[in-house]
Amino acid sequence: MDEKILTPGTHIPVLEREVVAFLRPKTGGVYVDCTLGLGGHTLALFNACKDIKIYAIDADCESMELAKKNLTSFNPNINFLWSNFKEIGSIIPEKVDGILFDLGLSSFHIDTPDRGFSHRFDSPIDMRFNRESGLPCYKMIEKLKVDDLEFILKEYGEEYLARRIARLVIESKPKTTMELRDIIASITPWKGRSKTLGRVFQALRIFMNDELNSLSKGLEDATKLLKPRGRICTIAYHSLEDRIIKRYFRTSQELREVTHRAVVPTDAEIENNHRARSAKMRCAERIEVGEKERLREKGMRERRRDRDGDWGRERRGDERGRRGEGEMRRRGD
Ligand SMILES: C[S@@+](CC[C@H](N)C(=O)[O-])C[C@H]1O[C@@H](n2cnc3c(N)ncnc32)[C@H](O)[C@@H]1O
Repeated sequence: MDEKILTPGTHIPVLEREVVAFLRPKTGGVYVDCTLGLGGHTLALFNACKDIKIYAIDADCESMELAKKNLTSFNPNINFLWSNFKEIGSIIPEKVDGILFDLGLSSFHIDTPDRGFSHRFDSPIDMRFNRESGLPCYKMIEKLKVDDLEFILKEYGEEYLARRIARLVIESKPKTTMELRDIIASITPWKGRSKTLGRVFQALRIFMNDELNSLSKGLEDATKLLKPRGRICTIAYHSLEDRIIKRYFRTSQELREVTHRAVVPTDAEIENNHRARSAKMRCAERIEVGEKERLREKGMRERRRDRDGDWGRERRGDERGRRGEGEMRRRGD
């Protein structure tokens, strides 16, 4: 494999400028990169402000070793934490100014044949971010029933051929990515096959790494770690993740969403980095409990004033007056 692809200098982080603009790294600030990957966003934060401290988390120690090699020579103020970000509440010892979640898998995973994440290479179907823990995917498949796999494919891949694929996979118990690919090829037309493959591989990966539960827990515990006005930035690559984030930001009483609509890459970024095409970035800011309610009421008052102006207030008053009079007449008072 070409080592150069893996260095932060040549790896292109998704929505890099936008992440820096929303996290606003400042002198003396403390930040958490929950998904270090190859260190692209960590490097971008340091480039924006040298005097910051970063806790860099990743579940994958192999890619972390690679990022470490490149980043430590650049800035010593990084604490590398090989862990799942769902543990963020217990592994970060202080309050922080900003937290980043750049979800899913990295180019390292896609481009490393023996990790079994990609159907471009023939290798055992592994798909674990942390290979030190649990069983590889092909061994998990041996333990699953058709109903379980159908649920996984439907729930995490939104795959409409879930039942048929599940039945065939459980029958033939594929061990390698090519065997799995052949099973899918046997029941899908050439046109659209790569989309089915993408959905099946995505579903198995989400299941193997318990990605959606980790995200929910990670977001909740990350919120508690933020200093007042500290920010969480997320980049999601599919609607299942984005839905969880959107709902959490809207309903959390301790967060106010700063990006009212998801920020997406420009056409130029997508042209330069095809993997950015489905990215959606959101950012939320830590507020006090009760502040959201006050902000909402204030916003409603301001919107009403902008819409109606003095004329509206008078008109509402008149109508109310007239309605009141009518009521009185009807009641015969
Ligand atoms: C999209 S990549 C991040 C790329 C990185 N921002 C960069 O610019 O190089 C996502 C990374 O998050 C890691 N990851 C995914 N889920 C995780 C979790 N629950 N806990 C910790 N790391 C996780 C993956 O191992 C992968 O390295």
